[in-house]
Amino acid sequence: MSRLAIITGASAGIGAATARRLHADGWRVINLSRRPCPVNGVESLETDLAEAPSPSLVETLRAACADSERVAVVHNAGLLASDSAQGITTAQLHAALQINVVAPAALNATLIDALPAGSAIVFIGSTLGDKAVGGALSYATSKHAVHGLMRATCQDLAGTGVHTAVVAPGFTDTEMLRDHVGGDSDILDAIASGVTFGRLIEPEEIAATIAFCIDNAVINGAVIHANLGQIER
Ligand SMILES: NC(=O)c1ccc[n+]([C@@H]2O[C@H](COP(=O)([O-])OP(=O)(O)OC[C@H]3O[C@@H](n4cnc5c(N)ncnc54)[C@H](OP(=O)(O)O)[C@@H]3O)[C@@H](O)[C@H]2O)c1
Repeated sequence: MSRLAIITGASAGIGAATARRLHADGWRVINLSRRPCPVNGVESLETDLAEAPSPSLVETLRAACADSERVAVVHNAGLLASDSAQGITTAQLHAALQINVVAPAALNATLIDALPAGSAIVFIGSTLGDKAVGGALSYATSKHAVHGLMRATCQDLAGTGVHTAVVAPGFTDTEMLRDHVGGDSDILDAIASGVTFGRLIEPEEIAATIAFCIDNAVINGAVIHANLGQIER
């Protein structure tokens, strides 16, 4: 059976791990990001999700869907910035909403009627889709919105045989997290100490959770938390 995975942001981190996992499992994988996916055999279509999907991108993706018996769309690309209620600009808020919410919704709108029954749409959320910390206003706001987008999408997909879910990672050892803390290993250690397992999550662990959601339609309309158990303070 021909299976196609369309993954945003598979040039790094969780997206690259998911591309590696699905490619190894026999899926044809197409990555949408500005940089190429480092995994051999994964096709990369240079895409800036800050912009609306171009007609040629839509045509290419719809043709790939038409050649496939099952499609998994993984909305993984994300934007994490430091900002707060005191002083956030509308430009900062628009930027986070664009990458984290508007781009997935826009891509879905162009693809959903091309998805065969048995397909899946998985959004990558965050623990900050359910709670907030200081200094991450645009991120927490947009990740909360991802839950709403997924739940509304689930309702609209009723009867199509396409299921949808959010995988909400905790602290995962990727560029995003390392850049956010300025590469400071003391901060990373402090973050790890706030997890019941005392370590960061490996991107491959999130990739395995995504693969499980893709393959199990019973996980429809659900938010799956994948955070190794965060210590409540
Ligand atoms: N790491 C964590 O601790 C953590 C925790 C909770 C949730 N998450 C979520 O997990 C997802 C993946 O994050 P990650 O940690 O793997 O981050 P990462 O290693 O920094 O990768 C982010 C990916 O997003 C893509 N991206 C960002 N802006 C883009 C744009 N304008 N156009 C196209 N692609 C864009 C990047 O591709 P290019 O730069 O090549 O364009 C890159 O492939 C995100 O949704 C993030 O919010 C991560």
